[in-house]
Order: sequence, then C-alpha cells, then structure tokens
Amino acid sequence: MREDERMKVDISCGERLCQAFADCLAGKVSKPKGDLRVGVDLGTANIVTAVLDSEDNPVAGKIQKAQVVKDGLVVDFVGARTIVSKMVEELEENLGRPLKYAACAVPPGTTFADCKSTKYVVESSGLEVLDVLGEPQAAAKVLGIADGAVVDIGGGTTGISVIKDAKEIYTADEPTGGTHFTLVIAGHYNISFEEAEDIKLDETNQAKLFPILHPVMEKVASIIERHVSQFDIDIIYLVGGASSLKGLKDVVEKRVGIRTYIPNHPLYVTPLGIALLCPKGSD
Ligand SMILES: Nc1ncnc2c1ncn2[C@@H]1O[C@H](COP(=O)(O)OP(=O)(O)OP(=O)(O)O)[C@@H](O)[C@H]1O
Ligand SMILES: [Mg+2]
Repeated sequence: MREDERMKVDISCGERLCQAFADCLAGKVSKPKGDLRVGVDLGTANIVTAVLDSEDNPVAGKIQKAQVVKDGLVVDFVGARTIVSKMVEELEENLGRPLKYAACAVPPGTTFADCKSTKYVVESSGLEVLDVLGEPQAAAKVLGIADGAVVDIGGGTTGISVIKDAKEIYTADEPTGGTHFTLVIAGHYNISFEEAEDIKLDETNQAKLFPILHPVMEKVASIIERHVSQFDIDIIYLVGGASSLKGLKDVVEKRVGIRTYIPNHPLYVTPLGIALLCPKGSD
C-alpha cells in the first residue's frame, strides 16, 4: 500500500473514533465490551472525560467548560476535583458499573510537581491513574500517524509533537491558544471575555472576525513554523478546539508551507488519545 493510502486509512479510523465519541457526548449509550478505562483531559478551557471499552470503542463521555487549569497547571484544585468526581459518578451511573482505571495528560515541558497535581485531581475521584501522558502523544495515537507533526491548539497553549517512524522525536508547548483569540475580540469590541467567547464560537461570525483575528492566527502559524521547520515532514495535523476557527488552517498552511489537515472533531482527539493510551487494566 502506498504511504498516502496508508495514512488515509489510519486517519479515517481516528475520525470514526472521534465521531463515536461525539455520539456518546450527545447522549448515545453503547453497551460496553469487557474492561473499561478512562481518559481525563484537564484543559485550560474544557475538562473532557472519555470512557473506552476493551475493544477501544468509546462508550461514554462528559465535557464541561471549566477554568480550573491554566496552561497545564491546576490552579483550582478543589474546583477541578469537584468537576472530575461528578463526571465519574455520572458516568458510572450511566454505564451501570464502576470505573477503576484512568490516564491523564499534561502539556510537554510540565514539571514533575505539576504532573502530580493533575494526577491527584483524577485520583481524588476514586480512579487509579495508571499513566500520565504527554498531550500531543495522545493526539497522535488517535490519528494513528507514523510521520508528521501534530499541533494541539487548545484554550491556553499550542502543543507540538513531531512524529518520525511512529516515534515522537520532538515536543514543545507555547502559551498561545483559543483564549488569546477571545481576548482580541473582547478588546476590539470592548466587551467581556464571556461575550467575546460566545461571538467567537458562533461559526457564522468567524468569516467577519477573520481580519481581527488574523494577527493571532499568524502568531500561531509562526510558532508552528519555528518548531517544525527543522524537520523533514510533509503533513501537519491540527487538533484542539481552537483549530476549528475558520481560516486558521489556511494561514498555517501558507506560512509553514506544509500540507495541513484538521480532523472533523479536533476538540475530541486529545481526550480520546488519553483513554486509548491508558494501559488496559483488569476489572
Ligand atoms: N468551533 C470553534 N471555533 C473556534 N474556537 C473554538 C471552537 N470550539 C472550541 N474552540 C476554542 O477551543 C478552545 C478549547 O479547546 P480545547 O478544549 O482543545 O482546549 P483545552 O484542552 O481546554 O486547553 P489546553 O489544551 O490549552 O489546556 C477554547 O478557546 C474555545 O474557544
Ligand atoms: Mg487541551
């Protein structure tokens, strides 16, 4: 099979996983097969929990906006613990069985102490944390890619991972993400952060916002260029909620000069990858 054909097959598998997870978040209940494992993504903008069964099918999930983590650092431990514990409780109720094993993740460059706080948040919900992963590594797992760059543009940061021969050879994390787009809109219209976020998330507004947001898009593109240009790669995958912003992909592609692709549900890629990489325990 040709390299590009293989890549297509792998990506479509990741796309199917993301779609199945989107269905779970929309309330679809699937009958799980075998042992369950959980991925918890404590993000700057969202906390997402994904449950997979032993055949790696997404069977349940929760997402909640939250401001309890800043750039990979838990800044509101009690708030984070309350949200994750409630999510786990509700998921157990929906699934009709207890959840035991989990993985969580941190951005590249996170200190040992900050990794521990993320782990404690998840453990305080009663789950046993089997691994603390790197966020871009988790995203790359879902996409199933062997070569290329995965760029996770989240709420607070842009995480970059370069994959060569199915191994992560480089990671970086820079403090620019969706929050910065919102701040620019808030400043431009002299409105609150919350109002600006609502305006940004309404995709019918995004074409009109493009000129206002273009400088931040260029900044994100220049960050990606700076980190990936030293490697011989021919594709960049954008994931994370902020990569959905209309026009951003084209700005990145033009600036970096490398083919750029966004999966259908970019926000779900990293949380799903955390669950996929959670070692299979035995219930
Ligand atoms: N359709 C959309 N268009 C534009 N921006 C979006 C869209 N959906 C989500 N976002 C933005 O994506 C960001 C949240 O993405 P995500 O959940 O991946 O971040 P996070 O994991 O919480 O943050 P981080 O990884 O930086 O800690 C927010 O800034 C949100 O406004
Ligand atoms: Mg994230």
